[in-house]
Amino acid sequence: MGDGADHDEVFLPFARPDIDEDDITAVAAVLRSGWLTAGPAVRRFEEALADRVGVPYVIACASGTAGLHLAALAAGLGPGDAVAIPSLTALATANAFLATGADVILCDIDPDTGLMRPADLQAALPEHRRVNAICPVDLNGQPADPPGMAAAAAEIRAVVIEDAAHAFGTTYERQGETVAVGGCRDAAMTVFSFHPTKMLAMGEGGAVCTADHELAARLRRFRDHGMERTPIAFEGRSIAFDRSGAPNPWYYELHVPGMNYRVSDIHCALGLSQLRRLDSFIARRRALVEKYDRLLAPFAPVVRPVARVPGAAPCWHLYVALIDFEAVPVERSEVVLGLRSVGIGSMVHYVPLHLQPYFIRRYGAQELPGAEKYYSQALSLPLFPAMEDADVDRVVESLTRVLGLV
Ligand SMILES: Cc1ncc(COP(=O)(O)O)c(C=O)c1O
Repeated sequence: MGDGADHDEVFLPFARPDIDEDDITAVAAVLRSGWLTAGPAVRRFEEALADRVGVPYVIACASGTAGLHLAALAAGLGPGDAVAIPSLTALATANAFLATGADVILCDIDPDTGLMRPADLQAALPEHRRVNAICPVDLNGQPADPPGMAAAAAEIRAVVIEDAAHAFGTTYERQGETVAVGGCRDAAMTVFSFHPTKMLAMGEGGAVCTADHELAARLRRFRDHGMERTPIAFEGRSIAFDRSGAPNPWYYELHVPGMNYRVSDIHCALGLSQLRRLDSFIARRRALVEKYDRLLAPFAPVVRPVARVPGAAPCWHLYVALIDFEAVPVERSEVVLGLRSVGIGSMVHYVPLHLQPYFIRRYGAQELPGAEKYYSQALSLPLFPAMEDADVDRVVESLTRVLGLV
């Protein structure tokens, strides 16, 4: 079939988690321990993440979406509030804020990087409405100008909640210092996803990072039904304490409702085990990205990688090729199907939110040319640590052949 190569039976997906025997042993150990829900592995995972990104508090949770919702709740967002997000992102970014009753304001992006810029935020600000929070998205693993976004948010007194679902392991230069995404130097809260296509696979999982003690307490409370267990905060004086004035050992209160967004020890044991290999995952992804860049360079400007953010060392969650489909005889669906027919997966990240029927019905038609251009050109090619160099050769050969460039 196709190029006659002998790899047709092995499908190369656009992403694949890397699970080894240590991962399996770590999960089996939790199963044998009998402690399946949130316990010691969750605490160890949170400490290890905090160490890794250099932040005081990490709240592990059920998914990246849960993390974004927790961050929105902890920031006090609700009906009447507004959150600015890029139009080009996963549905989860918008859904998490909408779930609080807040509105989202969809901003444009740089068509070359896919990232929202401070100028995109400024252009989207409504005249007569306060924007309470902004949520830049570190698309593909590249940081969306954290210091610039923090400054733009400060001007309008908005909280920064960074959607770093793609960017666990990314670092950037900040005033001459290398800092990790998640360190919360430029965001009140940063949210990671550990969905299996992401940098660490936990089955499902996520985390919120913060340097703010009060936000950390709120995040933990919202993760656990909103349950208040701090005696000093108890309001039910007559039922909270025994005759000696000691808090009743079973007692809890509800002040603001929360969710069950806890993550289990099973998931965190896997996350902890995976974390040991994070540096090798990143190194491998970077090497594969370099190889893609090198092999695709002769096909510019018809095919080019996303533009690189200066001063950043991305973890590279995705490898996105930007393809000028007006310059080739095939449309994108033919390319996706053509690649699939030779055993290669590809994907489009993402359909812009402002083109979604829900948002058109809710806010009316909107034109965001940067997001539309990026969307019209983007194609995510296979990228995961276990890929061989030869797989990149095969993807580039097949892609350029399907595009009619060779
Ligand atoms: C940009 C972005 N934000 C948020 C999420 C949500 O993460 P999760 O799938 O862990 O809920 C994702 C995952 O797909 C994502 O890509």
